Amino acid sequence: MSVFSVRVPRSEADWRAYYELRWRILRAPWQADGEARDASDDRSTHRMLVCNDTGRVIAVGRIHRQEEHPRQGQIRYMAVEQGYERRGHGSRLLLALEQAAREMALETVILHAREQALPFYRHHGYTLVEPSFLLFDTIQHYLMNKRIPG
Ligand SMILES: CC(C)(COP(=O)(O)OP(=O)(O)OC[C@H]1O[C@@H](n2cnc3c(N)ncnc32)[C@H](O)[C@@H]1OP(=O)(O)O)[C@@H](O)C(=O)NCCC(=O)NCCS
Repeated sequence: MSVFSVRVPRSEADWRAYYELRWRILRAPWQADGEARDASDDRSTHRMLVCNDTGRVIAVGRIHRQEEHPRQGQIRYMAVEQGYERRGHGSRLLLALEQAAREMALETVILHAREQALPFYRHHGYTLVEPSFLLFDTIQHYLMNKRIPG
């Protein structure tokens, strides 16, 4: 049975695989071209879940401190490889990001979830606040939050 572990992307190959998965799952179906990275990637804490046998990156995500609310973090760009959903990989990645939130002394985490991801975040104790924005005129997002006990 394959073993998976969560780690920090380090090498150039790690970063290539990280951004490739993120782009393919979260952007490519709606956007033919564009930037795989955004301006806040440089000040974010990133994690990736890797299959130890093959080295393949299976899940990615990041968290950053909100400049206007220093005790609050935002999780963004959670993506699990197609065909690997519902096996707990997203959960392991999310728990690693919440651990990073504790290490950053954050008190709350917010995120904007797609409709299909609401059950996943609810499962992890996130509360739905309100509908937030529409991506590409079609993908409704919902603001959710969670207190992160220290
Ligand atoms: C949403 C996503 C991150 C979840 O990761 P995952 O690895 O599939 O989820 P897990 O296996 O860790 O799920 C944990 C629990 O969350 C809930 N859950 C997850 N996906 C669900 C779904 N599609 N429907 C209902 N419940 C779901 C279940 O309670 C699940 O436990 P169970 O499988 O024992 O019933 C992943 O499916 C994904 O990347 N999807 C496509 C991109 C996306 O929508 N990203 C989020 C952007 S906001």
